[in-house]
Amino acid sequence: MELNSKVWSIFRDLMFHFDAEHVHHSSVLAIKALGNAAPFLLERLSGVLEYEPPLLRPEVFGLKFSSALGLAAGFDKNAELVSMLPHLGFGFCEIGTVTPLPQPGNPRPRLSRDPQTQSLFNRMGFNNDGSIKVAQNLEQHKKNLPPYFRVGVNIGKNKDTEASQIATDYALAAEPFLDLADFFVINVSSPNTPGLRSLQAAQSLAPIIDAVLSKVNKSSRKISVLVKLAPELHESELMELVYFFEQSGVAGLVLTNTLGGETSIGTGGWSGGLVRSHSAKALSFARSMTKIPIISVGGIDSAEVGQERLNAGANLLEIYSSWVFGGPRLPAHIAMNLR
Ligand SMILES: Cc1cc2nc3c(=O)[nH]c(=O)nc-3n(C[C@H](O)[C@H](O)[C@H](O)COP(=O)(O)O)c2cc1C
Repeated sequence: MELNSKVWSIFRDLMFHFDAEHVHHSSVLAIKALGNAAPFLLERLSGVLEYEPPLLRPEVFGLKFSSALGLAAGFDKNAELVSMLPHLGFGFCEIGTVTPLPQPGNPRPRLSRDPQTQSLFNRMGFNNDGSIKVAQNLEQHKKNLPPYFRVGVNIGKNKDTEASQIATDYALAAEPFLDLADFFVINVSSPNTPGLRSLQAAQSLAPIIDAVLSKVNKSSRKISVLVKLAPELHESELMELVYFFEQSGVAGLVLTNTLGGETSIGTGGWSGGLVRSHSAKALSFARSMTKIPIISVGGIDSAEVGQERLNAGANLLEIYSSWVFGGPRLPAHIAMNLR
């Protein structure tokens, strides 16, 4: 069951005639079915068997990772696929964004593709099953994970939460994962939850970080807390935040989320090709100021681009859009070619 690039591009072009979110859900179902019935088929599809083990097994925030390449937040929002991901070439993943209560997200259509720029556009709005259910899902998968495959939990607030309860929401979202997560990512950078991006300021982030850290500090396990930021931040804003994070117990940054924009389906965020240069710039700028670990995400679509990010100071990498365009063999190919 080998998938060469020609067969993949014919299959992908066929899939691109269907609604993007339908194809996403069908892909999740197919991965689950294959992964449950015969994980070796996933390994054949993804090519992981043909590669040597990854050259790079980084140690970041005190944790060893089985490779430097992870699946970005938003693909496996409800932790349905976690134990399948090692068979697909990933060394870690971020599940979520998870909110305390389940919520449906924005009305459809809310996901589209632009093949010309190899970009996705989404206005999902944190559709997820809620932190308690997602933690139950993750618990099932944790039993079947290989050593050093790491799981980050990306946390957010519910859409209707009042301003005074925002910090509590982040803490509640984190709570069910205290025995399960390797790291948390505080997401204040999705363009699809009204007002969320305005939380990207030291004053607004301080109570959120404190609330999450106070949960984490009660756990017997060491769990790092990271913050994910938008690509639009000005250098002065990023600089202020980085200095603040260094004082406040934040273990790392995830740079970046999607690039805000508007299309025929509404306002939302671009990922893939259109966010690539913004994400690279944010990484270089942040790295020029700080040694804090950085997960680089945004437009990474080859081992070369991944290597450039590592050379620019990223500690780990994540992909989402390029997997959709590049196909099942891309993660293993990238992961095995990083130095
Ligand atoms: C459909 C879709 C849903 C996403 N959902 C989330 C999310 O829930 N939380 C989050 O932090 N990022 C989310 N993202 C952003 C990705 O994690 C990533 O930051 C962004 O897509 C850039 O990476 P890429 O260019 O490799 O896709 C989403 C992206 C897409 C395309």
